[in-house]
Amino acid sequence: MIICHEIGELKDFVRRCKKEGKSIGLVTTMGALHEGHASLIRAARKENDIVITTVFVNPTQFGPNEDYDAYPRRLEKDSALAEACGADLLFAPAPSAMYPHEEMTWVEVTGHVTMILCGRTRPIHFRGVATVCAKFFNLTECDRAYYGLKDAQQTQVLQRMVKDLFMNVELRLMPIVREEDGLAKSSRNVYLSQEERKAALVLSRSLAHAKEAFQKGERNKDALLTIVKNEIEEEPMSDINYVEMYEMPGLAELPETIEGNALLAVAVRFGKTRLIDNVILEAE
Ligand code: PAJ
Repeated sequence: MIICHEIGELKDFVRRCKKEGKSIGLVTTMGALHEGHASLIRAARKENDIVITTVFVNPTQFGPNEDYDAYPRRLEKDSALAEACGADLLFAPAPSAMYPHEEMTWVEVTGHVTMILCGRTRPIHFRGVATVCAKFFNLTECDRAYYGLKDAQQTQVLQRMVKDLFMNVELRLMPIVREEDGLAKSSRNVYLSQEERKAALVLSRSLAHAKEAFQKGERNKDALLTIVKNEIEEEPMSDINYVEMYEMPGLAELPETIEGNALLAVAVRFGKTRLIDNVILEAE
């Protein structure tokens, strides 16, 4: 596996691949890779001739009081995992390479899809995500890009960007990978104390209970939200940021009685750490 830090070197590699008619799969990450990321790289490996993984803690998607500086960085371990999963090239640029000018071009998806859920408390977050992903799509000329449904809103924001800007990339959305006890894998789980980690299990547990109720026929939006809210509120270490539900895909507002598929998503603080999780309720 090639490890590359420079834009020019990446472009040369991509040019060679394209000349040979090879398809390119892209997995964008902020590093501290775990099984969630690994599942995306493996999926890309199966469906493309060439797999490129990016590791870049993207400064533009962090708010001023967020964890940009504290975010775990461990490129050596990440390279080993990416290589084991079959990546051909790992691109780990410096911030100055991705953002060479102070006055820069932004890609901003506007409207409902970026104003709800994480968009409410992280107002500049999705502008940073869309901008950096657009840069990576252009740099890698990827045919397919792989995203985890752990960040369900991110997948819907990027779908909108790709559609609105007529980008030639297919987004492939992959299921959430969890620890054995149900906690969704996240690079931020390392911030949790032992007690917080135990308390955080309430997220997957409460979402599973809502899913169970849905499968048994509950279609009332408030009833489903209440199952999750009540259970999380019973956990003394939790501090709810949101528990919300929207149409899936697209994240449009839902009527009181749900008809199609829905995303039930939560963001909850445990101590200083904010975790997100979700479940897709499928009507079949
Ligand atoms: P990061 O949090 O590193 O996640 C990179 C990709 O891995 C995302 O598509 C995310 O949804 C996926 N992922 C993370 N945890 C997962 C899990 N438990 N199961 C399945 N997939 C999982 O998301 C970002 O980085 C950034 O916003 C990025 C898109 C790289 C832009 O900077």
